[in-house]
Amino acid sequence: MKIILGINSYHADSSACIVKNGKVLAAIEEERINRIKHWAGFPEKSIKECIRLSGINCNEITDIAINTKPTSNLPHKFLFFFKNYFFSKKILEIFFRYKKRITIKNLLLKEFNFGNRVRFHFIDHHIAHISSAYYPSNFEKAVGLTIDGSGDFSTLTISECSKNQIKIIKKNIISPFSWNFL
Ligand SMILES: [Fe+2]
Repeated sequence: MKIILGINSYHADSSACIVKNGKVLAAIEEERINRIKHWAGFPEKSIKECIRLSGINCNEITDIAINTKPTSNLPHKFLFFFKNYFFSKKILEIFFRYKKRITIKNLLLKEFNFGNRVRFHFIDHHIAHISSAYYPSNFEKAVGLTIDGSGDFSTLTISECSKNQIKIIKKNIISPFSWNFL
């Protein structure tokens, strides 16, 4: 049995959902609870509400999927940071924003009583978007297209979706030298 907690954290419209053996049991955006539109922090209340609505116990969750993969396009992220923020007043703000994303596992383990064998999965942002369309579609084969501004340093991807696998075949990566978007 697989019970997956999916979270969209530190990104616009923070949210959570619980999927049990491929079926969505609960899903909610944090803004519906905290009443702050497009809230983009840690979705603590959504996680609690999803657990309550789905009637499962926290320690039954087998996997946690997170909406970003800090190592995706890492050289571009790194160069962008150095080019734009190394000598800037915002350096600490940007550093702590990134730190929150890579240490989210610690926060989740601190705040919730997950079992010892729960597995964490950091999912590339665009793969997460395509997954939300491809897997519920029941299509055996499909072409995935994401246009986002931006996720994990990419704004557009094209994927081959086949036999429950998603493979990015083309992607646009933000050049660290083109524009300043943060
Ligand atoms: Fe996105």
